[in-house]
Amino acid sequence: MIPLEDLIWVAWYSAVAAVVVAAAGLLTLHLLRGRSVATQLTVVGVATVLATVSGIVVISLMMLLNEHDVTVVLWVVSAAGIVALAVSVLLGRRLVAANRVLVEAVRADSFEPPPVRLPAELAELSRELEAARARLAAAHEREQALEASRRELVAWVSHDLRTPLAGLRAMAEALEDGVVADQETVHRYHGRMRVEVERLAALVDDLFELSRIHAGALRLSRDRVGLADLVAEAVAGAEPLAHAKGVRLHGEVAVGGPVQVDASELGRALRNLVVNAIRHTPSEGAIEISAELVAGEARVTVADACGGIPAEDLPRVFDIAFRGETARTPGGGGGLGLAIARGIIEAHSGRIGVRNAGPGCRFEVTLPTATA
Ligand SMILES: Nc1ncnc2c1ncn2[C@@H]1O[C@H](COP(=O)(O)OP(=O)(O)OP(=O)(O)O)[C@@H](O)[C@H]1O
Ligand SMILES: [Mg+2]
Repeated sequence: MIPLEDLIWVAWYSAVAAVVVAAAGLLTLHLLRGRSVATQLTVVGVATVLATVSGIVVISLMMLLNEHDVTVVLWVVSAAGIVALAVSVLLGRRLVAANRVLVEAVRADSFEPPPVRLPAELAELSRELEAARARLAAAHEREQALEASRRELVAWVSHDLRTPLAGLRAMAEALEDGVVADQETVHRYHGRMRVEVERLAALVDDLFELSRIHAGALRLSRDRVGLADLVAEAVAGAEPLAHAKGVRLHGEVAVGGPVQVDASELGRALRNLVVNAIRHTPSEGAIEISAELVAGEARVTVADACGGIPAEDLPRVFDIAFRGETARTPGGGGGLGLAIARGIIEAHSGRIGVRNAGPGCRFEVTLPTATA
């Protein structure tokens, strides 16, 4: 039976020896902190063995064990130590290998999570990398779409602005050279020139608005406006155009709360929707402009009788310079109206969408309602 006092001393000395070994181990780990995990795990293994051996040395120095026992214990501990060391080296190698698999997966063009089972931390890293890759791919896709729309816009500008300008120049030259002289033709040329200039001015104005939206330079001066007023304004503004085309316009507001909007900008967006509806609805057709409160949001709907937009065009109608087949006629619009409408509505933290419904299509604008 070992006396308690001796036991306390054993505990004390071996603790001191272990602390010394641990300090040396920590210092080594600190110096090797930039090295491979395998190396660091080897250091941990060696430190563990050394701490145990130092404890045995302490006991033998205190003469608590005879020489035979010390040898036996040392052998046992050494064997265990070697096994522990081998395990830590193995673990280190597995970590290094798992890490290499991950690094290789990242280096590949498109990151796929490695098919092997990774340690929890590396598996988490792998998941995060996969999410980051998805975000990167989405950003890349957005950028490509933007680039495509920019290219389309440049092509649009060169075509849609040049063609009427060439026509204007030809008419001006004909007038200047006296090629057309009879009063009636001269009058007709003047009239056509004025129409072309107005159309060009409207296009340039649309382009300017669009560039302001894209540059984030749209300054909204918001006021509290009633939904009913917005709808009434849109109907009144488009009435002459509808009348000329023989299309019926009908405005209706079920429950109209106030919205906090820039009335002139939002009016422009709604006007673009209503003008489109009139343009695409045959005479005798009807257009319904309505507003209501849905789930705490204001919703303005423009429903027409255009006969539906082709399904493949639906996701593209809000793109810059997109025009449906029927709209690509001379004198048609520039394909900017809906892009502008969406820009203005999104600047109001709203959304716009379109779907085919009934005899035509429905454009739905959702806006946050004004808070008291
Ligand atoms: N109410 C509608 N009914 C049917 N098709 C529509 C309607 N509104 C838009 N479209 C389709 O979406 C396309 C894009 O509309 P958008 O208003 O952006 O351009 P646009 O009317 O052709 O020209 P702009 O508005 O610049 O004068 C149109 O060319 C048309 O094909
Ligand atoms: Mg339009």
